[in-house]
Amino acid sequence: MSLERLLAVIPAGHSDEALAREVNFDRLPAHIAVIMDGNGRWAAQRHLPRVEGHRAGSDAVRETVETGARLGLDVLTLYAFSIENWKRPVTEVSTLMVLLKRYLRSELETLLKNDIRFRVIGRMDELAPDIQQELHLAIDRTAGNTGMLFNIALNYGGRAEIVDAARRAIASGIKPEALDEEQFAQFLYTAGQPDPDLLIRTSGEMRVSNYLLWQIAYAEIYVTDTLWPDFRRRHMLEALLAYQKRERRYGGITPARAAIGAQ
Ligand code: FPP
Repeated sequence: MSLERLLAVIPAGHSDEALAREVNFDRLPAHIAVIMDGNGRWAAQRHLPRVEGHRAGSDAVRETVETGARLGLDVLTLYAFSIENWKRPVTEVSTLMVLLKRYLRSELETLLKNDIRFRVIGRMDELAPDIQQELHLAIDRTAGNTGMLFNIALNYGGRAEIVDAARRAIASGIKPEALDEEQFAQFLYTAGQPDPDLLIRTSGEMRVSNYLLWQIAYAEIYVTDTLWPDFRRRHMLEALLAYQKRERRYGGITPARAAIGAQ
């Protein structure tokens, strides 16, 4: 079913078709999280202002969201603006906000058509009122959708999320002895969602940048040199196929390894 949905947007004979056919749809990651990096370098390579890299990055967001939904992911989380990103020049920050607003306006119908539910993770109440309004509109309009959940991390920090969760846990009156890992996760922004199985980072940087620190405990990390504005369906499928070749052990050992040890 998901292969058909994916093939429906791939022109016949296109190289993405062969990649799509290699995907094992019985072993899809439930949740893919992405650190979209390299917009500035993409622009610099073209002697363009940094904001042009962000503008081009919006197209990569569009294609990634649609590919995720067509693949049949449960959750896709994109890191659009970190708490640390406020340190950037004011003009860059305001362009990022304008692009976000534009994206929401132009893509809302596509989100609805693809049955995508939109959510924000991060300190949303610290964003400008017009941005919050736009975000709330998209959240409310897509709330009844039952397909892929698309989280956008905005004014997000992994440590801030853990602090916010601790505050909520305390405010809830939960008894300290009742607080275990499972309970604590219910106070995170991602409460009720599966943890990311796959974390993709573009532009070759080997960092997790304060992203989903709690949730990526056992995520498989995939780093590509591709700069975010160049990231397309092909790159997502390549990441997925690499993930499907990995052996996930969650700190344990697989039966094959246990057999070697027993020899
Ligand atoms: C990192 O590249 C990217 C960001 C800080 C922002 C991501 C924003 C977008 C993809 C565009 C708009 C988003 C939406 C949701 C429509 P960088 O600027 O740090 O790149 P560099 O490391 O090469 O300088």
